[in-house]
Amino acid sequence: MKKLGMGVIGLGMGRNMLYINRESSFQTEVRALCDKDPATRNGISTTREDVKEEFGIAYTTDNYKDLLKRDDLHIIGIFTPDHLHFEMIKDSLEAGKHVIVTKPMVVSLEEAKETVRLVQKYDRKLLVGQTRRYEGNNVEAKKFYDTGKLGKPLLAQAAYVHDMRSVFDRSPWRFQHPKDFLYGGACHPIDQLRWFFGDVDEVSALGTTSCDPRYPHDKEINFMLNLKFKNGVIARVLNVQGIIHPPKGSGGLGGFAICGEKGTLVGSYVRYEEDGVVHDFKLPGEEEMIDFDGKEYSGHTASALRYVREMEASILNNTKPTINEIEGAKCTAVSAAAWESIRTGRAVKVFNEF
Ligand SMILES: NC(=O)c1ccc[n+]([C@@H]2O[C@H](COP(=O)([O-])OP(=O)(O)OC[C@H]3O[C@@H](n4cnc5c(N)ncnc54)[C@H](O)[C@@H]3O)[C@@H](O)[C@H]2O)c1
Repeated sequence: MKKLGMGVIGLGMGRNMLYINRESSFQTEVRALCDKDPATRNGISTTREDVKEEFGIAYTTDNYKDLLKRDDLHIIGIFTPDHLHFEMIKDSLEAGKHVIVTKPMVVSLEEAKETVRLVQKYDRKLLVGQTRRYEGNNVEAKKFYDTGKLGKPLLAQAAYVHDMRSVFDRSPWRFQHPKDFLYGGACHPIDQLRWFFGDVDEVSALGTTSCDPRYPHDKEINFMLNLKFKNGVIARVLNVQGIIHPPKGSGGLGGFAICGEKGTLVGSYVRYEEDGVVHDFKLPGEEEMIDFDGKEYSGHTASALRYVREMEASILNNTKPTINEIEGAKCTAVSAAAWESIRTGRAVKVFNEF
């Protein structure tokens, strides 16, 4: 069977996509690359020429519009700075391509509405690479939640805690543009919670500034959100990037947790009660999830490979990817409401009418 061709724009996070060329089980291959200013990332070269040779890729360019003209490319993978996603999504869809876009899908409610309109107008597939939904331990937590053993969910929390100072060193657009972390960081815990509980009805949010003098001193980078879901669940989101990372062994600043009427899940640990019996156990983790030969892949590479697999199935079977344009738009809308809440000091209703 003829493979689907992919072109990748941006060779930081986007480099993870290239490993599909080493896996014979994929029906997709990366055939072209675009990067404007390739660099070294964590000691790994991302220069176009090095990558081209290493992964056997025929074509490279520094202008993404060159990719859009190629008939051998069916999917465009967008892995550029957040604020460039919308323009690249739009141009790719207009050129008839399917789109994989890393998180955040886009960075405003207006861009989210327009993305939904364009995906539907051009009848293409769009998948947002929210890596958390493809991490083994989270997949196991979701599977367990879906058994219903926690009972009716009452409250939850999710966090994204990442000291950005070393990331700023290698990726200066994050403080120069600057990155809007309420879209680009908070989308991790917001999307994770939406995966379990669906649409968010209302948001109340607070924000504060960074410990790093390179990030604009008057722009918030650390956030606390209180969410009320339409199904009645209340949740808190901690999203902090402008901090000094909590010390090892301290337990950190809070991870993922759900409390239901019959049980509680914290990360991979579960306690639930059934017929008067208490069950305490640990769910399988990422290390137990074997879906590639030899367990060679972990972290973002494993997640990226998993979402490419889902995207190719969506294209070949004409189904919608799980994190499609609507899911991406609803997640974006929560961040938009959170900004409005921070600016007005009030709880704000979330736009969900996509
Ligand atoms: N968990 C995750 O899914 C995850 C993790 C890290 C980054 N990301 C996302 O990936 C995106 C990129 O982040 P990163 O960490 O890879 O940043 P990065 O700075 O390491 O890499 C971005 C790359 O894009 C290239 N680029 C910039 N403008 C371009 C243009 N106009 N045309 C072509 N190439 C261009 C740069 O040269 C650079 O090589 C961001 O949206 C970020 O949120 C997602």
